[in-house]
Amino acid sequence: MIAKSDKNATIFIVLAVIFFMIGGLLTTVVPPLVDRSWGKAFENSDPAKGPTGKLQPYTEQQLKGRAIYVREGCWYCHTQQTRTLLADTKRSGWRGVDSPVSTPDEFVYDNPHMFGTKRTGPDLSRVGGKYDAQWHRTHFKNPRDLVPGSIMPPFPWIANNEEDFQAMVAYLQTLGRGKNWRPENDFEK
Ligand code: HEC
Repeated sequence: MIAKSDKNATIFIVLAVIFFMIGGLLTTVVPPLVDRSWGKAFENSDPAKGPTGKLQPYTEQQLKGRAIYVREGCWYCHTQQTRTLLADTKRSGWRGVDSPVSTPDEFVYDNPHMFGTKRTGPDLSRVGGKYDAQWHRTHFKNPRDLVPGSIMPPFPWIANNEEDFQAMVAYLQTLGRGKNWRPENDFEK
């Protein structure tokens, strides 16, 4: 059969599709079936790894902020996945502490997930607690006021609508907080 595919295009294509699908299934569907912990909310019960905590489901307000994040297409420019690269863990790090790499148990309440693919702006998976609400307000009004040369567009309609703004910030502050990895005295709100 394999030898025949050398000369017969139909057999070649059918075999290629079958092998491609086996590869796809083995790397996407099978792993979460084998390792069930992937579907459980992240839990850090080891004090040696930092403050203990467990990933919490989103509140109404945070879900509203998340809906605005989707609506405004923040995910066109921002990813939410810290890869195993130093460029990611150092960039999202805080006060000398490298940020942890993303794991599946962080995203159990995300539906659909906001991993994104395009890193026009920095990754946001660890931005929770990095800035306070005032920073976010100024940044939404005009990113250039805080980061000269920023190519992020202004979102004044978020900054000027109190309810939307509070919801957006509440959502942003959850990003990465489940891991409880930041040293103390960062921004809760
Ligand atoms: C056109 C691409 C683009 C879009 C759309 C966009 N951003 Fe940005 N964003 C950027 C860039 C570039 C930066 C880096 C410069 C800066 O901080 O302004 C950035 C920075 C940020 C930061 C600071 C990150 C850090 O670690 O310093 C936050 C928070 C943020 N964006 C949130 C948002 C939110 C929320 C939305 C949707 C309402 C959004 N962005 C939409 C491009 C974008």
